[in-house]
Amino acid sequence: MSPVRILGTGSSAPERILTNFDFEKIVDTSDEWIRTRTGIVERRIADPDIATSDMAYEASLRALEAASVNSIDVDGVILGTVTPDYFFPSTACLLQSRLGAKKAFAFDLSAGCSGFVYGLQLGKAMIESGEARIILVVGAETMTRIMDFKDRATCVLFGDGAGAALIGKSDMSGILSLCLGANGDDWELLHMPAGGSRIPPSEETVRNRLHYIKMKGNDIFKEAVKAMESASIEAIRKADITTEEIDLFIPHQANLRIMEAVRKRLDIPPKKVFINVDRYGNTSSASVPIALDEAVRSGRVERGDLILFSVFGAGFTWASGIIRW
Ligand code: UT7
Repeated sequence: MSPVRILGTGSSAPERILTNFDFEKIVDTSDEWIRTRTGIVERRIADPDIATSDMAYEASLRALEAASVNSIDVDGVILGTVTPDYFFPSTACLLQSRLGAKKAFAFDLSAGCSGFVYGLQLGKAMIESGEARIILVVGAETMTRIMDFKDRATCVLFGDGAGAALIGKSDMSGILSLCLGANGDDWELLHMPAGGSRIPPSEETVRNRLHYIKMKGNDIFKEAVKAMESASIEAIRKADITTEEIDLFIPHQANLRIMEAVRKRLDIPPKKVFINVDRYGNTSSASVPIALDEAVRSGRVERGDLILFSVFGAGFTWASGIIRW
């Protein structure tokens, strides 16, 4: 098996910012409520002419540049998203074309917020097996397009953005472990009811606001903490390291209180946790790769550092992993 590591990362987010104070004018909420319950201060919102593939493209260009890899050398594009440009073709195909990654296969992956980390696992396995040498893994979302700006319980939580990582064969192993999980029993706690084959789009579905995120946040909170904790313990064990050795913990940026609960359970000191939920809100599958890219570019991560990341999302799906940078 060939060792696999991340060769370079990139991220992108729209310039336009929506603050908690902006939301005070839209729904019955307050900056104080959003800040104390979630840790979010502001999030990015894409202009009407920007879609998921546009942000994915920017993030991917930066990852290619950071890795010094030419797009023609990419063997595959795996893109995690719940907000594709179109139902089909896949956003990954649009990205593949725009990048000129002519040799690459391309497909989207639907695993909620865990899409990027699921993609990492798939890409890693393909490289290890010798089926591919370099794979572009992307998490990209335009969550503001499926946010109900009349539902205060959800609309204040999400934001837009994209993160990308190029992974490839290497002399030393960089991705030490990945542990994925899913449980579809409670899928209704976080879903978008209409638009698919179960409830096709109609005037009625639009009238009833069924093309927006529906979420029972409180129930998800507890499940997220439990799953992120147990997957992280498994990832640490599988990588054959100790928790004390971890240099940086990158949790899914959905809610500061969830991150804090997981951190405490894992007994990781606060200074080792990477947080940017205050600036982006929950960007779903883009959350972990944006955070990773920011950590790398801001110097929070140095060669050889051990990074733990953990994510939880719709499905439910979850995943944790250990990287040696
Ligand atoms: O990334 C995918 C996975 N998703 C998540 O990880 C989300 C997990 N869940 C959460 O982050 C939290 O549950 C929320 C931030 C969504 C909600 O926080 P909470 O502490 O669980 O609040 P709650 O849902 O129990 O609601 C408490 C109160 C309710 O009022 P009453 O019934 O106590 O009078 C809500 O109506 O807060 C009210 N509320 C709001 N008030 C002001 C809900 N949303 C808002 C709001 N502004 N935006």
